[in-house]
Amino acid sequence: MDISTRDDCERLVRAFYSRALEDPIIGFLFVDVARLDLDAHVPVITSFWETILLGARTYRGGAFRPHAALHAQVELQGGHFERWLTLWRATVDELFAGERAELAKAHAERVAQAFLARLRSMPSGSDPVPVGGGLAITQHGAAPAR
Ligand code: HEM
Ligand code: HEM
Repeated sequence: MDISTRDDCERLVRAFYSRALEDPIIGFLFVDVARLDLDAHVPVITSFWETILLGARTYRGGAFRPHAALHAQVELQGGHFERWLTLWRATVDELFAGERAELAKAHAERVAQAFLARLRSMPSGSDPVPVGGGLAITQHGAAPAR
């Protein structure tokens, strides 16, 4: 059965988070770093998918911003996005099949790639030297290995 209602989107999103929050690779990002409030987040991300998959206009945009905030605390790496996508694809395939299910996987991949590319040009909390403020930070000697 394909994804066809908002309830389907919500079921998909909840099933995804029940995996993601317990995941050894990315779970800590939601639980420990972002301290995700699932009850507040589920309706928002359900609207995101309802907008993409079902043509609703329930999501108002700005999806990138919280990821930039998270990245400022802990560097979001390619491997994190790969893991996110692996869990997402597995959840979609387990629950649904069809054109919209395929679109859900394809669009997630595009968004993940775009987010990762944008984050790469931004400083992160995992960087050895904090960037920001008005001061230029200079270092003598060899640049530290990154
Ligand atoms: C029915 C068609 C589509 C809908 C309704 C849709 C909807 C959306 C929405 C709601 C976002 C989040 C935007 C935000 O929060 O700022 C988004 C992001 C994105 N979409 Fe789509 N999309 C569609 C088709 C496509 C197609 C065909 C592509 C590329 C071939 C695409 C590539 C992307 C990318 C790369 C992003 C991330 C942009 C960023 O860096 O923030 N989308 N889309
Ligand atoms: C390593 C990968 C990712 C992590 C750790 C992550 C984590 C998060 C966190 C912590 C939030 C904020 C929740 C809140 O407190 O409101 C969030 C929001 C969101 N994420 Fe992700 N995310 C990841 C990848 C993605 C991808 C690939 C997509 C899209 C396909 C996506 C779509 C969204 C959307 C739509 C929101 C809601 C933004 C809003 O408030 O409008 N995320 N994510």
